[in-house]
Amino acid sequence: MPLPFLATQLDALLDGETNLIANLSNASALLNQNLSDINWVGFYLYDQKQQTLHLGPFQGKVACMHIPLGSGVCGTSALNKKILRVANVHEFDGHIACDSASNSEIVIPLIKDGKLLGVLDIDSPSFNRFSAQDEEILKAFVLVLLKHI
Ligand code: SME
Repeated sequence: MPLPFLATQLDALLDGETNLIANLSNASALLNQNLSDINWVGFYLYDQKQQTLHLGPFQGKVACMHIPLGSGVCGTSALNKKILRVANVHEFDGHIACDSASNSEIVIPLIKDGKLLGVLDIDSPSFNRFSAQDEEILKAFVLVLLKHI
């Protein structure tokens, strides 16, 4: 499937569906099926009380289960509510290496009505895997996802 249609495909897939875990599970599976050259894709969900991201539905190897807000690429993206596109994770101060095969990463915060719900995290074994165009496509994907969660 051409990548710009991913958001449309997700919208159809989640039509009428309201279960958070089911929707995030299929969203991560849809990305995993359609993105090349990635080794991990999934969600961390924000627990405001603990100020921590907890592992959510994903596709890939076993990953770290709790990431404090402000830690690693995910925690930094969540804290600042900003997308982080990291060409070389080894140069990112505080990067959390769940899989030593990962070399680049993109993290997109899930923000609904100004509230942080979590992040979408995607890792690649290649350096500089994620382009500005990928970022736009994934941003559109997350906007559709937010309608369904
Ligand atoms: N690398 C992330 C941790 C999550 S794993 O990549 C799945 C980080 O630095 O936040």
